[in-house]
Amino acid sequence: MKTLSNAVSGQPRSSTVGRGNSTNPIDPATIPETWSDGLVSVYFDDSLNRYTEWPTPTVIVSDGGYGILGFEGDTSDHLDLPHWYQPHIEMWSKHATPSTTLWFWNSEIGWAVVHPILEAYGWRYVNANIWNKGNGHIAGNVNTRKIRRFPVVTEVCAQYVYEARIDGLTLKQWLLREWRRTGLPLKKANEACDVADAAVRKYLDQGHLWYFPPPEMFEKLQKYANLHGDANGRPYFAVDGKRPTSADQWIKMRAKFKCPHGYTNVWDRPALHGSERYRLSGGTGRAIHLNQKPLDLITMIIQASSEKDDVVWEPFGGLFTACIAARSIQRRALGCEIDSTYFYHGVNRLQKESEMLQWV
Ligand SMILES: C[S@@+](CC[C@H](N)C(=O)[O-])C[C@H]1O[C@@H](n2cnc3c(N)ncnc32)[C@H](O)[C@@H]1O
Repeated sequence: MKTLSNAVSGQPRSSTVGRGNSTNPIDPATIPETWSDGLVSVYFDDSLNRYTEWPTPTVIVSDGGYGILGFEGDTSDHLDLPHWYQPHIEMWSKHATPSTTLWFWNSEIGWAVVHPILEAYGWRYVNANIWNKGNGHIAGNVNTRKIRRFPVVTEVCAQYVYEARIDGLTLKQWLLREWRRTGLPLKKANEACDVADAAVRKYLDQGHLWYFPPPEMFEKLQKYANLHGDANGRPYFAVDGKRPTSADQWIKMRAKFKCPHGYTNVWDRPALHGSERYRLSGGTGRAIHLNQKPLDLITMIIQASSEKDDVVWEPFGGLFTACIAARSIQRRALGCEIDSTYFYHGVNRLQKESEMLQWV
């Protein structure tokens, strides 16, 4: 399904005129089109113009429209967010592999309306993580009689992976199909893996009990099938249809993930304040970008879902928090920012951070 539902596409577009930058605008003519330091490359451009030239992403950190007119081009409510994200999601899907994780930041309703588009383009939902900014975020400033709801102190960071498909089948379906093609009884899969019943119960299950065979188990299944299965059907468990897939190749069929110790899906972490927030130097000291994300949380999600030298995309850069986080843990990063003022300050921040890195 690659079309938006009529219910959504029939809506008139809401305004996309942002509430304006909080700083003095920088003339676009005065800033460079791109900046790079070898590990990070950022572009003063619409990310839609850049995806095709970027290397394959292991991680995409999306922190774009929220439907709150948060920046020039954001929509005025959540109803238009599916349209806003659809061309980006289409491009992410074109460039993703089964090793790719998408971290989709938004409000709960923003995420809810975009979720069907993500699914339609092959992104499999894994988890909803909640950034809980705590009571300090509202500090008694909310008139609940007026808003008539509980004050919101959270954002959502939904984890998606790009679902691997072989011959149009999910991995779960493909594993069972391959085993059935051998003509061997199901229980022989347990013998192949040298387990009592775990192979059939876990790797060939078609329900929620299924789980991804570890590489060594996959290789055992594959070798057994190719040795004992019907000779006419070989090769078995060959992702490319030509050569049986090895353990090393199999591991690439799912996204990377390593949970940092002690973390759950609720991230208690105060909203940005003090020196964390990037501000205009001198003068007013006003915050430059109201949507700047905490560096520690962004570092944590990138670290959990990638390894050294992997590629991170930050299509909606702002002050390029994900690029800075990626670089600090030796990932390569590519980012875009469409607003000249944010781009200018984002590059300044990247430069300042790299000067600091040299002193570490
Ligand atoms: C929510 S903010 C991101 C903030 C960022 N995560 C940070 O920590 O600084 C979204 C940013 O995406 C930019 N943007 C929106 N559409 C874009 C597009 N198509 N290409 C590049 N940047 C875009 C906006 O100007 C805005 O600064």
